[in-house]
Amino acid sequence: MLLRLSLIVLAFTGLASAINNGLGLTPQMGWNSWNYYACDINETVIMNTALAMSKNGMAAAGYKYVNIDDCWALERASNGTVIPDPKAFPNGIKYVADYIHSLGLLIGIYTDAGLYTCQKRPGSYGFEEIDAITYAEWGIDYLKEDWCYSFLENPQERYQIMSNSLNATGRQIFFSLCDWGTDNPWTFGGAIANSWRTTPDIKDNWDSMMANLMAQASISSYSGVGGWNDPDMLEVGNGGMTNTEYISHFSLWSILNAPLIAGNNLIDIDQETLSILTATEVIAVNQDPLGVQGALVKSYNGGLQQIWAKPMADGSRAVVLFNTDTNPATITLNWADIWVAPVTQQLVVRDLWQQSNLGTFATTFVSEVIPPHGCVMLKLTPATN
Ligand SMILES: *[C@@H]1O[C@H](CO)[C@@H](O)[C@H](O)[C@H]1NC(C)=O
Ligand SMILES: *[C@@H]1O[C@H](CO)[C@@H](O)[C@H](O)[C@H]1NC(C)=O
Ligand SMILES: *[C@@H]1O[C@H](CO)[C@@H](O)[C@H](O)[C@H]1NC(C)=O
Repeated sequence: MLLRLSLIVLAFTGLASAINNGLGLTPQMGWNSWNYYACDINETVIMNTALAMSKNGMAAAGYKYVNIDDCWALERASNGTVIPDPKAFPNGIKYVADYIHSLGLLIGIYTDAGLYTCQKRPGSYGFEEIDAITYAEWGIDYLKEDWCYSFLENPQERYQIMSNSLNATGRQIFFSLCDWGTDNPWTFGGAIANSWRTTPDIKDNWDSMMANLMAQASISSYSGVGGWNDPDMLEVGNGGMTNTEYISHFSLWSILNAPLIAGNNLIDIDQETLSILTATEVIAVNQDPLGVQGALVKSYNGGLQQIWAKPMADGSRAVVLFNTDTNPATITLNWADIWVAPVTQQLVVRDLWQQSNLGTFATTFVSEVIPPHGCVMLKLTPATN
């Protein structure tokens, strides 16, 4: 009887645990206006960014969503329809959507579950249905819904309303809920959304990036195909960290199966930033179809050196050896740390940033000296005889 009951419970949570809109089979990739432009957006900058993304190698590397964040909306018409700011978007949003689609890309937009957005533009509270219909009419493919001015609402209940409203439009719209971790959205997000923010906003500095990273260590099991933990967008290229730190940021977001949403200026991007954002073998770890989020599997020296690892669909393991210290360090990886049995087997070790094999090793791999705040990202594959 007990057994049968638990089977029923399992079957029920299984059904209830996926948004089922066919999206988010791998973590979303794209760009969002907030981290670089904040409120200073308009159709020109959004369309030029989309054009840049389509041509500079990012689209080819998998980036598809061009996401407009806060400040596009002005007010509501008397019938409740949301009106875009005519100064910033004189031709409306559908015009921008059509252009982005003509480039082979997809468009995202932003709203808020409360009365107002964080920048005091109209929120979707009580207008979820009409807003979802409007977005679908414009050809929107992605919605980020924020949590400002939401008062004492229950996020699970509030976001469910928008989730249902999006579904009712019949248009496939990726749903990114953004309650900054309020009420542990990883426990309910999968039934409602394709991703859920797990932390406060990222800032373009090392401490903020590290805080958001470490908040993921205990929740990796909640993420998977169709719904992803979201430690917030990328800061790569925005200038507040060194390139060594940005490479660590990008490596770790990749192994965490985090959304890869660039947040920098793509119209005027330097070559080094572009090469970080388009590192093919690193992105392949993020986009692996097995969809198991990387976990912190070992720490040395009180966490100064860390090993993050995830299993890949082909049976290999992806690994980030991360030196958070302000001194250089080598890091030793034991096969036992990454659950590859038997622990004596020969593994081919490939460096994913250098895109080259480092050799075949048994039992243990010792990294080169890793600079302060740097990392080495590897793929380990059983050697075939
Ligand atoms: C709406 O939800 C149903 C039930 O989960 C699902 O089968 C369908 O694909 C969803 N439609 C859209 C457009 O998301
Ligand atoms: C559009 O936004 C960009 C980026 O903030 C700004 O440089 C540009 O002057 C704006 N254009 C107009 C017409 O407002
Ligand atoms: C609501 O009003 C706006 C602005 O006047 C108009 O563009 C829109 O078509 C109206 N929507 C409906 C459903 O009547």
